[in-house]
Amino acid sequence: MATTLNKPDATTTAAAPASEPAVRLDGVSKSFGRPGRSQLVLDGISLDVAPGEFVTLLGASGCGKSTLLNLVAGLDAPTSGTITVPGGRPALMFQEHALFPWLSAGKNIELALRLRGVPKAGRRPEAERLLELVRLKGSYGKRVHELSGGMRQRVALARALAQDSRLLLMDEPFAALDAITRDVLHEELTRIWSETGVSVLFVTHNVREAVRLAQRVVLLSSRPGRIARTWEVDIAQPRRIEDAEVSALSLDITEQLRGEIRRHGQH
Ligand SMILES: Nc1ncnc2c1ncn2[C@@H]1O[C@H](COP(=O)(O)OP(=O)(O)O)[C@@H](O)[C@H]1O
Ligand SMILES: [Mg+2]
Repeated sequence: MATTLNKPDATTTAAAPASEPAVRLDGVSKSFGRPGRSQLVLDGISLDVAPGEFVTLLGASGCGKSTLLNLVAGLDAPTSGTITVPGGRPALMFQEHALFPWLSAGKNIELALRLRGVPKAGRRPEAERLLELVRLKGSYGKRVHELSGGMRQRVALARALAQDSRLLLMDEPFAALDAITRDVLHEELTRIWSETGVSVLFVTHNVREAVRLAQRVVLLSSRPGRIARTWEVDIAQPRRIEDAEVSALSLDITEQLRGEIRRHGQH
């Protein structure tokens, strides 16, 4: 099923052929506030994510990254422009795990499976499989408060994967974790991405994280958010955040990002 999120008066397009991107943004702008006193947050964003591609969206805090992801997730509508997600509703993962604390790790995942329409008998084995995929085998019965921050994000990732979407949207999912845990989760995410072939649109303000993970880094400017520059990251996976090539490209991108921030007198 094709989901097209347009201006309120626009219509939904028909299902797209297989060569269609995982998501297409065409001239997307977003303003908040009343007419005449509105704030333009995103301005003319056009971007495709190819099937199976890993794209990071990088920008200073407040530049509109979460706004953009929410638009792609269908939680809000653009003021102008169109967003097309040919594979149907994307899965979304936030910085906060948003797990239900009264449910076990396994039951949190099963809830997503139930919402997807997986029959009752199939839910437990599928939840166990997903827990194994995120390397939490044996944690089915654990409550959220018994899990470390990194383990909670693993469960949140398993729950997002339980939606079986072709597109995974991630909004700074590792920003609250310590550096070592984050490093391990970068490895896991890279592995899961290559094993599942899911397309990923990953938002971060962390330059090294963006370069560590992505095939393509898209830098957003601030006030309003526009695409300032794009880099193809031609470094073999699995990468390490401290690799010389990752560091060199990160330095280059950081310079551009600093320029963006200076230009707008922020931070
Ligand atoms: N629902 C909203 N209503 C009004 N302003 C908003 C809303 N959501 C975000 N904004 C504004 O849009 C700008 C970008 O916010 P956000 O997308 O959260 O940035 P980022 O995720 O890059 O840090 C901020 O100035 C923020 O205050
Ligand atoms: Mg944000």
